[in-house]
Amino acid sequence: MTEKISIHGQWSSRLAFILAATGSAVGLGNIWKFPYITGENGGGAFVAVYLVCIAIVGIPVMMAEIMLGRRGRQSPINTMTSLAREEGVSRAWSLIGWGGVLAGFFILSYYSVIAGWALAYVMRALGGAFNGLDAKGVQGLFGALVGDPERLLAWHTLFMLMSMMVVARGVRAGLEKAVTYLMPMLFILLLVLVGFAMTTGYFMKGLDFLFHPDFNRVFHECKTVAGIEQCELSGSPVLVALGHAFFTLSLGMGAIMVYCSYMPRQASIARSAILIAVLDTLVALLAGMAIFPIVFANGLEPGSGPGLIFQTLPLAFGTMPWGQLVGTLFFVLLVFAAWTSAISLIEPAVAWLVENQGMTRVRASAWIGVTTWLLGLGSIFSFNLWSGDGYKLFGKTFFDLLDYLAANIMLPLGGLLIAIFAGWAMRRQSSEDEFSMQPGPYRLWRWLIRYVSPLAVILVFLNATGILALVVTRLKFVSGGY
Ligand code: PHE
Repeated sequence: MTEKISIHGQWSSRLAFILAATGSAVGLGNIWKFPYITGENGGGAFVAVYLVCIAIVGIPVMMAEIMLGRRGRQSPINTMTSLAREEGVSRAWSLIGWGGVLAGFFILSYYSVIAGWALAYVMRALGGAFNGLDAKGVQGLFGALVGDPERLLAWHTLFMLMSMMVVARGVRAGLEKAVTYLMPMLFILLLVLVGFAMTTGYFMKGLDFLFHPDFNRVFHECKTVAGIEQCELSGSPVLVALGHAFFTLSLGMGAIMVYCSYMPRQASIARSAILIAVLDTLVALLAGMAIFPIVFANGLEPGSGPGLIFQTLPLAFGTMPWGQLVGTLFFVLLVFAAWTSAISLIEPAVAWLVENQGMTRVRASAWIGVTTWLLGLGSIFSFNLWSGDGYKLFGKTFFDLLDYLAANIMLPLGGLLIAIFAGWAMRRQSSEDEFSMQPGPYRLWRWLIRYVSPLAVILVFLNATGILALVVTRLKFVSGGY
């Protein structure tokens, strides 16, 4: 077969590809979302389930996405269409690409709003707004920001413009360099924050919360009502952990697939996937280790939701030496991490518009930017005008619902279909050619992608809908367990 080349260009080297994919994976998901959902879902057991999901679902699906992207060399929609044709299976597989475009569009709409918070916090840190604040003061500061739709709108608009600018310029210009320097810096700053967390006297309690699993909690949803914790049986935390494994690795929607269509041939698929997953997980765990000791030292609530990092880290910046500088740098790097992820969220859609509608990258980015920006308004209002119960559906705000739908349902579903395509629809010969691995590791991957990953996703879905519990109860009943 002749080597296909992407019309959108190629990464300059193997390292550039790894950096770009890590840039996509490491983002708000690691530093903003991971700590707050871990806090909401009770800590250790949630973290354990999340790590298992990364290992048995995330890494195999990432390898599949890399393999498909590199073989197809087009936008995920067209890659799936052409690979389905090559394999002689239904064109309906292009639905993976379409679903991915939609999920990316949903995610970016609120991702940009949260990245806007980080932008706002750069200015605050720079101006010394955290100096000498106590927990109440920091909470007040956060409340003032999210309660003001106009301010949120301004920051959301700025972040969207920044993202569109980079996407319009193409995959290589600017992007590669930014990631090369900023990613290692973010890592170092997180280590500094973990160092600070060690001085709070609550470091061990933080570690205990993160790494000591109480499995009872994963199967129950707990809420503190009037100081008393109430728990009910629920499969939802497991689904949140699985959804987050996809979210944090940028899987299930074609972001990694499209980046890999710009990948040089000589890069090893398995090594790349493992490296990206390990770096990504490390960043998330470091963020958790920095944040939870501060939460406990200040008597804050781990489950306080999406504002968690914005209500904890400023306490550290307000008291540590050089806090103003470290704080500013931290939020700048957080914005960069979000930026390098945001562009990968829209790249699948932009690549498709360029390929099929003959648009220039600039026009395509503008179109997507405007529509995503509009959808983002719903998330902005979720924190102020629409935060009341009258605007909630199933007890969730617009933002919560969109995040739940995209991250916990659409991404795992996309990942499930990718696994089935790579493991079952594709001929063994095709994937074997593409991987060019040793027979042992290849067989392990194939076993994981055909059986383990799809089954895990299906079981988690059944568990979340309560069907699994029903079946287990029936089986116990039939076998005389009751
Ligand atoms: N992985 C990114 C993060 O953790 C978010 C993302 C999801 C990016 C899906 C691309 C695709 O912040």
